[in-house]
Amino acid sequence: MNKIPYETILDIRKKANIVDVIAKYIPLEKRGKNYFAICPFHDDHNPSMSVSEEKQIYTCFVCGASGNVFNFVMNYENISFTAAVKKVADLVGIKLDVKDTEVKKNKEDKYHNYYKMFDIVNKYYKNNIKSVYGKKAIKYLNERKITDDIINEFEIGLSLNDNSISKLLQEKGYSKDELVDIGICGDSNNYMYDTFRNRIMFPLYNLDGQVVGFSGRIYNGENESKYVNSKESVIFKKGNLLYNYHRAIKEAREKRSIIVVEGFMDVIRLYSVGIKNVVASMGTAITKEHASLIKHLSQNVILSFDGDKAGEKATISAIKELEKIGISPKIIRLEDDLDPDDYIVKKGKDAYLNHLNNALSVIDFNLMVKKENTNFNDFNEVSSFVSEAVKELEKITDPVVYELTLNEIAKQTNLDKETINNMVAKKPDKNTFIIDKRKKTKKDKYQKAEEYLVHYMLKDPKAILIYQDKVSYLENKKLSIIAMEILEFYEKKGYINVTDFTLFLEDKTDLINEVLRIDEEDLPDHVSDDVLLEYVKTIDEEILKNEINKVKDKIKTETNVQNKIELLEKLRVLKKKECK
Ligand code: CTP
Ligand code: MN
Repeated sequence: MNKIPYETILDIRKKANIVDVIAKYIPLEKRGKNYFAICPFHDDHNPSMSVSEEKQIYTCFVCGASGNVFNFVMNYENISFTAAVKKVADLVGIKLDVKDTEVKKNKEDKYHNYYKMFDIVNKYYKNNIKSVYGKKAIKYLNERKITDDIINEFEIGLSLNDNSISKLLQEKGYSKDELVDIGICGDSNNYMYDTFRNRIMFPLYNLDGQVVGFSGRIYNGENESKYVNSKESVIFKKGNLLYNYHRAIKEAREKRSIIVVEGFMDVIRLYSVGIKNVVASMGTAITKEHASLIKHLSQNVILSFDGDKAGEKATISAIKELEKIGISPKIIRLEDDLDPDDYIVKKGKDAYLNHLNNALSVIDFNLMVKKENTNFNDFNEVSSFVSEAVKELEKITDPVVYELTLNEIAKQTNLDKETINNMVAKKPDKNTFIIDKRKKTKKDKYQKAEEYLVHYMLKDPKAILIYQDKVSYLENKKLSIIAMEILEFYEKKGYINVTDFTLFLEDKTDLINEVLRIDEEDLPDHVSDDVLLEYVKTIDEEILKNEINKVKDKIKTETNVQNKIELLEKLRVLKKKECK
């Protein structure tokens, strides 16, 4: 896909009002000049996101998420920058020319044949289940309380007990290698056979909702493994996708939470009783990639794995993975070893909702697991339970939660509250209150000079020219990159303003957030050359100081006499510069 030209992007930006576009996704409320919303990019409870119609920029003052209209769509929908531009263009009725409509095909092109094949196979399986061959399979599904609507919605199909897929695909011109590559067929001494035989077929989708694999379930009481999955291929990696992601994305944003289950039957069950903000890991442990996908859906995560011991173990490891990226999930533990699907079928939706509304915190879950594994008649076991429980207490930051948990542990162990309390080294501060995450850190004179210079570069060509002329780089890497990008933008476009500059940065969200933060610095609108030159002087001084320190360090460790002499000479020159 060719890059969409900057001028086209700018044109779309001018026609699309950010307020109208964001309002299509989340409710906006006008207050004074700006609009406000609950920020969809963190666990927000008060409207922390402001949208400026004047600047055509959104900013969350709690999590720092910010950008232009394309960044919003890109981050909200988890799509590429190019796809977001295309989407906004559609909204305002701008037709991107032929080349541009190839958007999204980008990576698709290379594997185009694979997607096409999965599509053909999926249609074929769906057709089978509705034919006379599908009667038994439908009966099985209906007995499991899976309705025809759900069968359609989840595109559930049937593989036949023959090699019809191999034949069909080869007739359509696909090569044997391609058939084997995606795991739909096997090759035994040049005899092509279908991988899935007489199974109920569940298509597995990538994040965009394209079919990239299948899982087939037995339904006839056969004595074979319950599920068979497509083998992994270039487009299908189980650890990189979550079942139902593409459907759940909108629901999770609206309900502001995401439920994670183990199996796709669990997803289908929850979905069919109207709980649609749900994804499945498909039986594998939650990977790092899973965790970041989940975080993208929502910060409020509820783990609802099977009620058995295996489910408990999977929960423990999922918590670890999620905590690494700053998420503290809630946990549901179902009784009688049931999985969410069986649970809802046996005990009903309301019983499940009751669990959902009373999901455990990580601390409560950890204590519960420890409790299960402790014999409270054995004093040694009680003692180790208490020391484990104390570790959990030390993690609590809320004084009320601390008190309640302490009570629980005391009751459980028959120990005095004070005894336990005295064992806790770190107690929550009664006066803790929430601090703005973007709270200003104290900056020294030099950091200020760097930031302020970049601030003016974002609005005044004079500052850009001074930077170009007199500054070689900035110590702060991010700022240095931003300054370089500004130079490039100015050189190409011949003007500067913050909003258009963010368009130029496309999907570099990190830089955009920093640019918009610096733009917000409370500084006078206009600046004199003298002030700018003063910033430059401070920056130079700091760079020189750092260079001197570096040379000094080298001198200390250098053992070669000749090298040492050269370094000393270098130091002398630098020091002379410093005195000037
Ligand atoms: N799974 C798999 N291969 C298997 C068994 C399981 O890929 N041989 C995955 C499937 O994604 C399945 C999930 O692990 O949905 C959970 O497995 P399990 O609990 O055994 O299946 P259920 O979801 O309970 O399926 P069912 O209700 O149809 O028995
Ligand atoms: Mn099940």
